[in-house]
Amino acid sequence: MARILAIETSCDECSAAVLERTSRFASVRSNVIFSQIDLHSRFGGVVPEVASRNHLEMLSPVIDEALEKSGTGFKDLDAIAVTQRPGLIGALLVGVSSAKAIAYALGRPLIGVNHLEGHLHSIFIDGQASCDKLSAAQLPLVACLVSGGHTNLYLIRNLPPQALLAEKLSESRDDAAGEAFDKCAKLLGLPYPGGVHLDRTAKGGNAKAFDFPRPLAGKKDLDFSFSGLKTAVATTLKREGFEPYGAGATWGTTPDPAKLPQGTKLADYCASIQEAIVQTLLRKIQIALRETGARGLAVVGGVSANSRFRELLEQNVRMPVFFPEHQYCTDNAAMIGACGLFMLERGETLTGDALLAANAFSS
Ligand code: KG4
Ligand code: ZN
Repeated sequence: MARILAIETSCDECSAAVLERTSRFASVRSNVIFSQIDLHSRFGGVVPEVASRNHLEMLSPVIDEALEKSGTGFKDLDAIAVTQRPGLIGALLVGVSSAKAIAYALGRPLIGVNHLEGHLHSIFIDGQASCDKLSAAQLPLVACLVSGGHTNLYLIRNLPPQALLAEKLSESRDDAAGEAFDKCAKLLGLPYPGGVHLDRTAKGGNAKAFDFPRPLAGKKDLDFSFSGLKTAVATTLKREGFEPYGAGATWGTTPDPAKLPQGTKLADYCASIQEAIVQTLLRKIQIALRETGARGLAVVGGVSANSRFRELLEQNVRMPVFFPEHQYCTDNAAMIGACGLFMLERGETLTGDALLAANAFSS
């Protein structure tokens, strides 16, 4: 069975994984993630230059750990897969250059993986309770990719090892859902990245306390738009006498609790913001499921870790729903390796001195 080393450095997670092809899909032998969150949090967002410099420092030890944990030597590898696009160009370059060097030194094939296809492959990792029942019976499958950079709906008509011919049904016209979580969380003074903190703080809050906009909700088309939400939240905060955090140059400052909602009030804000985002996602997903005649739903990307989103989907979608485990929702090399293994099987590799160039864009 083919064994692969995968590398992911497209944003602020430095990750390496070792995977093996199984008779079903792919099994993860190790998945090491070094998160740079602590480095970026005082800036309230990812600083690209800081990210690439840290990847340079961390990638070698992260790869060593992934190999060691999986009991793999460099010589046992059949190929090297790496996220090649889209992402922060400097951060991508570190992963791509390292992967090229390793592949060249070992004389093994190099595989350039699209990060979005990687996320879609997170459901094809074996051993996940939610995904182990996934089979051709659920095709076509609507897949919702919700991350910090994308809110895309796809229709998937086939399963790996075939190429996923995922037809894009829609995208966000402006901010991604994860970006909306992060920006609204920042206005409330929550730490970066806001999504997970907003999720936690929303527990016990009243989701009906504020009626935040559910963009394009009345429309039949499947596109999303989340940029209005942060304005609505900022306006509501001001109307209630608070001072939204993050306006102007606030680097290095800490939010002043006296100027921001606390306790139940904060929980109410979080629950209402979260409800506006996840209800909007649910509504578009339901239209897509109906219009495409899908027989299953997959939800991937960082926002798929959101607890209220999962609860709402389980309550409202009357067909099988597949979620990756939390470790495969946010950026990780395991999903890149899963995609890479099937590319290897299809011969979609680069060998010899063929060029693999990092690309900031998705195509
Ligand atoms: O997939 P990902 O790690 O990176 C991108 O490819 O963008 O997604 C990161 C996004 C961030 O916006 C983060 O706040 C959001 O996923 N996120 C969440 C949760 N966990 C991560 N959003 C809402 N609730 C969560 N529990
Ligand atoms: Zn991602």
